[in-house]
Amino acid sequence: MAMQQHADLTSLNTFGIAAKADRLARFDTVDGLRELLSTPAVSQAPVLILGGGSNVLFTQDFRGTVLLNELPGIAVVQEDADQVWVKAGAGVVWHDLVLQCVAQGWGGLENLSLIPGKVGAAPMQNIGAYGVEIKDTFSSLEALRIADGALVTFDKEACGFGYRESYFKRAGKDRFVILSVTFRLNKDPVLNTSYGNIQQELDRMGITAPTIRNVSNAVIAIRRSKLPDPAVVGNAGSFFKNPVVPQEIADRIKVEHPDLVSYPAGTGHAKLAAGWLIERAGLKGLSRGTHGVHDRQALVLVNRGGATGQELFDLSEHVLRTVRERFGVELEREVNIL
Ligand code: FAD
Ligand code: EPU
Repeated sequence: MAMQQHADLTSLNTFGIAAKADRLARFDTVDGLRELLSTPAVSQAPVLILGGGSNVLFTQDFRGTVLLNELPGIAVVQEDADQVWVKAGAGVVWHDLVLQCVAQGWGGLENLSLIPGKVGAAPMQNIGAYGVEIKDTFSSLEALRIADGALVTFDKEACGFGYRESYFKRAGKDRFVILSVTFRLNKDPVLNTSYGNIQQELDRMGITAPTIRNVSNAVIAIRRSKLPDPAVVGNAGSFFKNPVVPQEIADRIKVEHPDLVSYPAGTGHAKLAAGWLIERAGLKGLSRGTHGVHDRQALVLVNRGGATGQELFDLSEHVLRTVRERFGVELEREVNIL
């Protein structure tokens, strides 16, 4: 397979950062991937597997090989009266998989409509939106262990899913290439319209007996109204996670700010809306010329054109520091920093 030298990554990351990689190659078969990994230049330097580049920030050029995952295919691998198991290649565009399942009437992924990126990255941070995470329908995944090329199957437990977390972001980091993911979907879908303003959006659309297609369309409409389109302004979605803190901390902030947005997060803990914290720290819409904090969703940092990854990282430091000083809460980055 063709290997490009000194490759420009600008169009391969949704922040639109003009970083370079020493080498770049694409793979659309497991054999092709194995062949690339055994090439001396590749095996002797760091490797970065890239899907849609929608959750990475390049703060410098990548001194190694970027491998673009283009493994295709969506197939039903098992079925019973109530459920269907759908296996998707890691290079399938996530939203295409969602649309295909919605079109078939298979429920479970519709709340995750329009999340950018590819199927292979979805387990990395257990993608989630509107009250659903992939762990809710996840059945298993297949991965290639980089050290010896072995194929390994992970069940849900082995993936160690948490809020924007998995084994692959921790102990398994940089050790596996995810090849395919299998989801268990419902033929008789149970709708989840309780989160946020999905119900409100359905009402606005005049829908009284919603289908999964209606829920998908409602989620798409809400997302389009809030989140910047990376094709228009560079971004990677939420730059930070919503912090989970001891309940006492949430209670303390609430004394001064009764409108703090928080959700129950297990015994004695609360999850705080980081967007609210950043907005109340006075940073929403902050502009540093080429880059800044989005003016409709403070959790999103944006590259308005020409920013470097280091400048965006520095801005994220400023946000972390300001929220710490203002509220005594430590934010954590969601985006993978490279
Ligand atoms: P990439 O950015 O290419 O990769 C992300 C990480 O995964 C990297 O560390 C990469 O090395 C690794 N990786 C990728 N593919 C593989 C593989 N096959 N094997 C091993 N490692 C791999 N996320 C949410 O959870 N919920 C949201 O609602 C949401 N909204 C977003 C909205 C916008 C506008 C944007 C830009 C992003 C949003 N995100 C959201 C973040 C992003 O879409 C997800 O994290 C997505 O899963 C990233 O997919 P990707 O293919 O672009 O991953
Ligand atoms: N809020 C503010 N100011 C802001 C942004 C949000 O006050 O600038 C408040 C909102 O008013 C609302 C609350 O914070 O009361 C939550 O906001 P929203 O529903 O927009 O969701 P979020 O918590 O900011 C999370 C995910 C998103 C996901 C949405 C919908 C994280 C880090 N982010 O955002 O995921 O799409 O919920 O479920 O969990 C991503 O991970 O990249 C991402 C976009």
